[in-house]
Amino acid sequence: MTKPPLPPVLDHIGIAVRSIAEAKVYQALGLRIDHVEDVESQGVKTAFLSVGDANLELLEPLSPESPVAKFIEKRGEGIHHICLRVDDIEGHLARLKAEGFRLINGEPVPGAHGCRVAFLHPAAGHGVLIELSEKIR
Ligand code: CO
Repeated sequence: MTKPPLPPVLDHIGIAVRSIAEAKVYQALGLRIDHVEDVESQGVKTAFLSVGDANLELLEPLSPESPVAKFIEKRGEGIHHICLRVDDIEGHLARLKAEGFRLINGEPVPGAHGCRVAFLHPAAGHGVLIELSEKIR
């Protein structure tokens, strides 16, 4: 028998910055960068700072073509997305699609920490870009 899916939990809040090195306020608050990784599929360098059970993910564009570079150009630095951790990303995407929600990624793509991720369109999230992430077990 298959187990019912677990409810999503907040994994991280993504924050678009011009430079991770210059985003010093989080360390000044006593948070520590636990993990730094380039995520080529999103055109960003990421830095994760754990905050209790969730994380902040600082996103620095790797090139001017990066969607995060375009975001900063248009809206300035700031909150870019929220990420919910799920345990059946394909099931969630199929259900959301069937219910008519607009998706950016119809299929999971590689994310940070070896996770599989997919983004919903901000129109589906009432102006919030929502990332779904599933850990590879
Ligand atoms: Co993210």
